[in-house]
Amino acid sequence: MTAAAEQTHAQPGDVLVDVQGIKVHFPIKKGVIFDKTIGYVYAVDGVDLQIRRGETYGLVGESGCGKSTLGRAILNLEPPTEGKVVFDGTDIASLRGEELRRKRQHMQMVFQDPLSSLDPRQSVESLLLEGMKAHGLVKDTKAANARLRELLKAVGLPAASLQKYPHEFSGGQRQRIGIARALAVDPQLIVADEPVSALDVSVQAQVINLLEDLQDRFGLTYLVVAHDLAVVRHISDRVGVMYLGALVEEAAADDLYAAPMHPYTRALMSAVPVPDPVVEDRRERILLNGDLPSPANPPKGCRFHTRCPWRQPTQCDTDRPALRVVSIDGVPETHRVACHFAEGIASGELQPHKVEAEVVDPHLGESDAHGSLIGPATTVEVTDTP
Ligand SMILES: Nc1ncnc2c1ncn2[C@@H]1O[C@H](COP(=O)(O)OP(=O)(O)O)[C@@H](O)[C@H]1O
Ligand code: SF4
Ligand SMILES: [Mg+2]
Repeated sequence: MTAAAEQTHAQPGDVLVDVQGIKVHFPIKKGVIFDKTIGYVYAVDGVDLQIRRGETYGLVGESGCGKSTLGRAILNLEPPTEGKVVFDGTDIASLRGEELRRKRQHMQMVFQDPLSSLDPRQSVESLLLEGMKAHGLVKDTKAANARLRELLKAVGLPAASLQKYPHEFSGGQRQRIGIARALAVDPQLIVADEPVSALDVSVQAQVINLLEDLQDRFGLTYLVVAHDLAVVRHISDRVGVMYLGALVEEAAADDLYAAPMHPYTRALMSAVPVPDPVVEDRRERILLNGDLPSPANPPKGCRFHTRCPWRQPTQCDTDRPALRVVSIDGVPETHRVACHFAEGIASGELQPHKVEAEVVDPHLGESDAHGSLIGPATTVEVTDTP
């Protein structure tokens, strides 16, 4: 993080990451001898998104909807089944060997659980030096030492931390080490996958604030993945809401929180309590029946139709809606929604109704059930209309 490095990244506006039609399908294998593929987990199933230089893109959705897989695909840690990721003008799938290694330096990841992502046998010094050495950033011992101290200072840890091991730190401090490790190689993009989910609520804000400070200081671009809408709201310029492997809504954070349009987003928001008691009393509460369907057997048509209180016959069951600009006065083109009936829902012409839970095949592609969305998103009531 030299002064030069602080300047080179800061050109807000142009696209740093261009995700084009990304799909990641995991084969489901069966059989001891032949290892037959009997199906696929459609973890990410057609995502287009752009992340601009210097911005924070927040990606939110229930556990199992494909956020981590998408984040990994963007960093080329998961080979996409289809589509491509253009990073800083280069299709990263076209890179091999040395070229790929060099590009990797510019894309780093911060993980949810710093304890399991940091090797317990390595000291902080060795953890931080590892990436720097791999990318040829360690010229001499003196410069390296100065750099290590600079990194620790940047993340708010004392220099004495260098000789310590991960278990000697608290959760929040460990996440600071994880962030320092990502910063060590002077990246352009940081994908932070649930960076505060494993931390105490009291520490979460500190780590989020640290990420924001570092972004300003070093002109970083962030993709922040979270199942918690509150975390994403605080830090993001734009937010994408994911459901079963695809984006259902995308907008500037303020626009999305002020007027969510997709029924799924509205249900998520309706589950987040508001501190103002008057607003809290009037807060819309929307019932989502049933669990997230299996990504190995996603519903046809609109993937949300099995749980959608606004579902309409019969287009919702048959046509998969694309993420589109809506024709509603005052809604900017940057606010896109994947719902056939977004206009009618926004105007109130269409009203929510009770949804019968549909049975989904429980055996295929079980998702990890931990860390569901904050609040009672799956068990609230909906207005019953005649
Ligand atoms: N390597 C893998 N092999 C098979 N299925 C996977 C693999 N990684 C993730 N999945 C499945 O893909 C779906 C999306 O997972 P993930 O991207 O981790 O979701 P999220 O981060 O939103 O919780 C889940 O059903 C998960 O079980
Ligand atoms: S397309 Fe239909 S099922 Fe899907 S969100 Fe819109 S109204 Fe609901
Ligand atoms: Mg995840």
